Amino acid sequence: MGKQALPTERPRERALLVGVELRRTDSILSLDSSLKELALLADTAGLSVVGETRQRLQKPDPKTYVGSGKVREIRALAEETLADVVLFDEELSPRHQRELEKEFDEEVKILDRTALILDVFAQHARTREGALQVELAQYEYRLPRLTRAWTHLARQAGGGAGRTGANGGVGLRGPGETQLEVDKREISRRITHLKGETEKLRAHRGRYRSRRRRSQIPTVALVGYTNAGKSTLLNQLADERVFVADQLFATLDPTTRRVELPGGKAILVTDTVGFIQKLPTTLVAAFQATLEEISESDLLLHVIDITHPDAAAQARSVAETLQDIGADGLPTLTAANKIDALADGVSPMEKGVPISALTGRGMSELLGAIEYELYIVMVPVSVRLPYDQGRLISLFHEHGLVENEQHIDGVVKMEGRVPGRLAWAFQPFGEDPEEPALG
Ligand code: GTP
Repeated sequence: MGKQALPTERPRERALLVGVELRRTDSILSLDSSLKELALLADTAGLSVVGETRQRLQKPDPKTYVGSGKVREIRALAEETLADVVLFDEELSPRHQRELEKEFDEEVKILDRTALILDVFAQHARTREGALQVELAQYEYRLPRLTRAWTHLARQAGGGAGRTGANGGVGLRGPGETQLEVDKREISRRITHLKGETEKLRAHRGRYRSRRRRSQIPTVALVGYTNAGKSTLLNQLADERVFVADQLFATLDPTTRRVELPGGKAILVTDTVGFIQKLPTTLVAAFQATLEEISESDLLLHVIDITHPDAAAQARSVAETLQDIGADGLPTLTAANKIDALADGVSPMEKGVPISALTGRGMSELLGAIEYELYIVMVPVSVRLPYDQGRLISLFHEHGLVENEQHIDGVVKMEGRVPGRLAWAFQPFGEDPEEPALG
């Protein structure tokens, strides 16, 4: 049976990987690690890796990305390994894609890392919003790259992309220029429609979020490189089953659970999308709503798989993405995960709370650290705010934790905690005029 492990599975397409080491690159991982990650991505997408080849380049060839000699070599290798897909580790421009397609048989698909990540995301989106966001990103990515009939990359499991209209009328429209134009128009129409839909969902999510904020329960967002163990940690903390898989991007949509801190207070912990280096920019934009979730939380919990040989590079890559979405200023706690799997004699990194999300080791220390970050670093405040101090009242609500609030004689009596950096603003409104506002 070979590749077809289960009779119900469709035969896996055979992929040949192409890695390029550029002299000047913003890549954080080495070519080796990057190709290893690409192979894992390919596997997650349901492809079977049949070979790999690499080239060192000063800069990409303007036409075919790799040099013409290398193109010939890849073609021969593709024939030899019966590859259906030639998969480039870098994002190809629409021109590269076009020129490379001319160099290969019609049956051989040219794909790049971005298309693959989009594909994996499409397969894993589990909510309507996630599916819409990925579908939108896929169309935006494809539109400028559309050269042949639209069957190209139409193999879709999740988002439904590639199944809409244009391919439906088998035999009605042959391939070629006109078909291409029809396809392009169709895609543009679909993009407009999807944008409208995601906008509606975003508004809905915003309303939901503000309701949650009013509930005063602080939120902690789990961030981390894909496969770091975020879902496992959420399961361990919330004692509930969240989908966990040894696959990249098993979690695509945020899942929120209520967790109790040692002192009895509750927090909401949100699992977010796994990060990866070279996360396509189209995708970052498409996932804005999901990423907003991160930037509006009270604390970030950065989960690092310390057993991974590239743990440090992965952590840097996460930090960069956080910077891209403007969440780098948020208080962050680091959890050094998978200590159970550390080889003997290797000590966990000095930074971060050592934990094992799998076995539960270090959970009380982690919760203690979260509590410390959220509550202890906050300053207790007891104030009487006149109604005209609306800005301070909402500041207290938005950034602080209100423990008691009463409206008496035209003032709002508020007690609770605010982050130390905001405490000075409340100073003039201390409960007892003789006493300072800060307890
Ligand atoms: P994405 O959805 O890709 O973002 O992944 P994630 O960060 O949510 O990772 P997930 O929790 O799905 O875990 C990935 C793999 O790591 C699974 O096979 C887990 O069983 C394994 N794993 C998670 N935590 C631990 C741990 O503490 N120790 C060990 N040995 N394995 C762990």
